[in-house]
Amino acid sequence: MKIPLFKIYSDENDVKAVSEVIKSGMRWAIGPPVAEFEKKICEYIGSKFCVVFNSGTSALHSLMLAYGFHEGDEIIVPSFTFIATANAPLFVNSKPVFADIESKTLGLDPNDVLERITKKSKAILPVHYGGDPANIFELNEIAEDHNLILIEDAAESFGSTVDNKMTGTFGNSALLSFCQNKVITTGEGGAIVTDSEVLYNKLKLIRSHGRVDQGDYFLSSLSGNYVDLGFNFRLSNIQASLGLSQLEKVERLISMRIKIAHYYSQRLNAFKEIITPQIRPNIRHVYQLFSIRIPYYYRDRLIEYLSQNQISSKIYFSPIHQTYFYKEKLKYDVHLPVTETISKEILSLPIYPSMTRDEQEYVVRSIDNFIKNFESDDKV
Ligand SMILES: Cc1ncc(COP(=O)(O)O)c(C=O)c1O
Repeated sequence: MKIPLFKIYSDENDVKAVSEVIKSGMRWAIGPPVAEFEKKICEYIGSKFCVVFNSGTSALHSLMLAYGFHEGDEIIVPSFTFIATANAPLFVNSKPVFADIESKTLGLDPNDVLERITKKSKAILPVHYGGDPANIFELNEIAEDHNLILIEDAAESFGSTVDNKMTGTFGNSALLSFCQNKVITTGEGGAIVTDSEVLYNKLKLIRSHGRVDQGDYFLSSLSGNYVDLGFNFRLSNIQASLGLSQLEKVERLISMRIKIAHYYSQRLNAFKEIITPQIRPNIRHVYQLFSIRIPYYYRDRLIEYLSQNQISSKIYFSPIHQTYFYKEKLKYDVHLPVTETISKEILSLPIYPSMTRDEQEYVVRSIDNFIKNFESDDKV
């Protein structure tokens, strides 16, 4: 049995959606499905505006530009995240300032965020780790009290909720990712959701060459007006069609993930060595990742053992402030005790909607075998 960390869920509707665009022989780049995908994301998330991008990273970059962040500005970010979150301020010569996480949600710790605020602070950029909402009410309150912009990095949390309200609707704006390991996917892709029309208009210009289009650029005889500096960060029409088809089944995909996660948790809670994700009553965790914590003296050996048994697992995440780039090149010298401890213990196990009960059972049994055979002498 070979069990990957994730598998993409796709069906005939996905194939049909993509084939239709391909067969049309036209409009592979831009076309009505792009706007339709944006409209459907707004309806699903509960936001007024959406702009889709060709990745979550280009969405992040665009946000930094749209807010006008520049040299001297500071953006508070977690170190326990994918590198793009921290890199985003650097794209516009601003400074990412790392704050620690708290161990319940694995998201930014509001108390530590407070400690990091300076006169230069402009925004807080919390991440909903692996689909588990961060402590968003407190973070929002801090942002409001200190006149900071709250941008939610909801790349991993499409569909997760707090008090029945979607992540991505709590801050001033949020970015989403549709990369292949996310809750729904267009291969590569991303989006920004916001209720701000001003931001929305800026983002549309940044996405496509600073151009005010007059109809479909490629089909129109008019070339549009270039009013600002922009990029080509567009999501293709082929991808948007796929996104629409994926979005139609998102609730089913999330239910499948939750079911697997609950089974994992119930089985793994039997091991005193393992901490499973906390289930909180007002939260819907969508389990883009299913991450356990296990003492560091087991963790790396467990990765190896699982790998020998054809099971993939992965460390999401190692601290960004300790990467070569941040530590050696950018000379970051910060100590984030919770981030550093948790990243030594964290391990993401395989999870994907089509994962069978046999596969789940095999993963649990392998962990059981590992722990039983682990020699206590090996603890260092
Ligand atoms: C927390 C977080 N932020 C940002 C991104 C960037 O998204 P993308 O890979 O679509 O560029 C990711 C993707 O892995 C992510 O996990």
